[in-house]
Amino acid sequence: MKAYKLRDNIWWVGAIDWDLRNFHGYLTQRGSTYNAYLIIDEKITLIDNVKYYLYDEMISRISDVIDPARIDLIVQNHVEMDHSSGLPQLMKLIPNAKIYTNANGIKGLKAHYKQDWNFEEIKSGDSINIGKRDLTFLTTPMVHWPDNQVTYCPQERILFSNDAFGQHIATNERLVEEYHLSIALEEAKKYYANIVLPYSRMVQKVLQAAAPLELEMIAPSHGLIWTEHIPQILAAYTDWANNVADPGRALVIWDTMWNSTQMMAQAIAQGFENRGIKARMLNLQTNHISDIMTDVMDAKYICVGSPTINSSILPTVAAFIYYLKGLSPKERIGLAFGSYGWGGQSVPILQQMLGDPKECGFTMLEPIKTLYIPDSETLKGITENIESQLLKLQEN
Ligand code: FEO
Repeated sequence: MKAYKLRDNIWWVGAIDWDLRNFHGYLTQRGSTYNAYLIIDEKITLIDNVKYYLYDEMISRISDVIDPARIDLIVQNHVEMDHSSGLPQLMKLIPNAKIYTNANGIKGLKAHYKQDWNFEEIKSGDSINIGKRDLTFLTTPMVHWPDNQVTYCPQERILFSNDAFGQHIATNERLVEEYHLSIALEEAKKYYANIVLPYSRMVQKVLQAAAPLELEMIAPSHGLIWTEHIPQILAAYTDWANNVADPGRALVIWDTMWNSTQMMAQAIAQGFENRGIKARMLNLQTNHISDIMTDVMDAKYICVGSPTINSSILPTVAAFIYYLKGLSPKERIGLAFGSYGWGGQSVPILQQMLGDPKECGFTMLEPIKTLYIPDSETLKGITENIESQLLKLQEN
């Protein structure tokens, strides 16, 4: 397989995971790539590597340029196995190669692979010279694991950003401008929502630290490489890290047993629309939770509904809320709703899961529940209830 030339003596030598559809629960409907980068300088340097089952693909791309046994050093920006599980095979080929990573990287790699490779510990701000070029390291803990770092080459003005700015997209194109900007931004947003969102404070620090860098290329470890559209992805990351949610957008998310909760969802959406707020309808039977998370990035209002079943809520709804809680979007306004026949436990459970500071911690609207099947008067009342609650909020 071919290497892709990014610059003179700088090559993309990663692997394309065309079949990937599940990244620990995240629906990756466009597949993904694991990007590795080869720099041919006095010291031949490999930045990151690939998932173990695509090792041969990476080696064949490296072999398109040089004999892989000539690699002198590896920069390992992240321990997670999508970027490191090719390392054990690679190190058999180049057992003396130095691996540059930070203390958490060394700890994590040793814990994963039980090998005492030739590690060189770097600290944030350290630089190494590989010949005509320098590589400067910036640790970025919790974007996405404690071991994350990014690597900057000042002579080339390239930031090898690992998970940051990545997207799960499998494609033959390597640069965003060869592809579709809108899809790359949408997938970057989905990636942020499902991987990076809980660490937004750290992202803010990284963006501050990266601000003085001159950037001509951002080369992430997944998906397409940013060149012409660097301002767009930096602006998007700034918005996402700053939790810019639109007060003009609501999500109505539900599952239903006999359509009563679904009828309530529609009446609630109507209430939002009547107050000039766009309401997006997300049935959990037809929408994947990882896609819903992408919408959560923009929406100020998060309404969640479930009928009562077995004194509790539907498992689809429970799974969504647990996922939502883990990704911890902040400063949202929540609403719990649902139908019931006798016990009516679903709405208090939803209220607690969405509103408790130890759970999602949303500011909650007054919950709404209905007995059995809501008739047209009840539905009208639900719409008016939402309108009235929103009016009160908007007045305050
Ligand atoms: Fe793409 Fe956190 O690994």
